[in-house]
Amino acid sequence: MKINHLKINGKTFLAPLAGITNLPFRLLVKECGCAVVCSEMISAKGLFYNSKKTLTLLSSKKEEAPLSVQLFGSDPDTMARAATAVQDLGNADIIDINFGCSVKKVVKQGAGVALMKDPGHSGLLLTAVRKATHLPLTIKIRSGWDPSGKDAFKIAQIAEDTGIDAITMHPRTAGQGFKGHADWNLIRDLKQQLAIPVIGNGDINSVEDAARMITHTGCDAVMVGRGAMRNPFICSQIDAFLETGSYQAPSEQDIFRAMARLTEMYVAYFGELSACKMLRSRLSWFVKGLPGCSAFRQELSRINSKTHALALIKEFETRIA
Ligand SMILES: Cc1cc2nc3c(=O)[nH]c(=O)nc-3n(C[C@H](O)[C@H](O)[C@H](O)COP(=O)(O)O)c2cc1C
Repeated sequence: MKINHLKINGKTFLAPLAGITNLPFRLLVKECGCAVVCSEMISAKGLFYNSKKTLTLLSSKKEEAPLSVQLFGSDPDTMARAATAVQDLGNADIIDINFGCSVKKVVKQGAGVALMKDPGHSGLLLTAVRKATHLPLTIKIRSGWDPSGKDAFKIAQIAEDTGIDAITMHPRTAGQGFKGHADWNLIRDLKQQLAIPVIGNGDINSVEDAARMITHTGCDAVMVGRGAMRNPFICSQIDAFLETGSYQAPSEQDIFRAMARLTEMYVAYFGELSACKMLRSRLSWFVKGLPGCSAFRQELSRINSKTHALALIKEFETRIA
């Protein structure tokens, strides 16, 4: 698959997840075999004002390439400047524009899924950003404001006509949040409408889900969000299955090694105290279904140092071996 000139080695994308797809998590998922990782959404306005917090979200390492950096905002000029700034920084291989966030704070600014209400304005924004960067440019949309998907088909056509290189669709409406099911029929219909690649997203929690989505919709690649929070190996499993018809589940040893690796990287990146606070939840996602996981989660909720975290992981590994 190619997004503009960029050749993608695989068919799997890690979804942008605010508060989750920070640099250490992306590196882990990349090391576990994902084709393309995406940043958390980054405020174009924050970049414009050189906000330190926003700039931190842009930190990257070349090992995670290709990296897609997602921007959100509503003002065409600010978005265009942000795209140029991201390009000049040199970390991003793809710039993605958020047309899907339904969080009130974002929608109130006219950004995220609010853009799907206003095709005229969205066209101006996309034209401005397209002019501002030569990087591959993608957008990530929802179904829009009603379940028929008509907003999505309109915005997607404008995007294709403006020179956007690929579109990711998470087919839930603005009002749905994450409730109910993603309507994969809309991904199928979008794929039939467009010439540019379509990346399908929503409710892929297993390799089999990914294969079913591709068969059902004909999408060119899949994007996985919450499934990768629980299983950082899911993307490489999906790619193996698509290539060979089979895949291996990670061994318990693989899972514990990934947990220790994430711990090391979190502590190096965030500092010990902040890292431990975040790791209490992050690490507990990986052990779902393992025997004795509830007791382990309780122990995790008290970690306060790297040594403590690594010792608990080792102890749990020995206990269930
Ligand atoms: C915690 C969380 C944070 C998210 N943050 C973003 C974001 O920053 N940008 C975005 O486009 N979508 C965001 N999403 C939506 C996901 O990218 C994805 O579209 C959605 O979770 C459906 O995919 P899944 O079923 O594989 O999780 C977020 C979702 C979750 C659960």
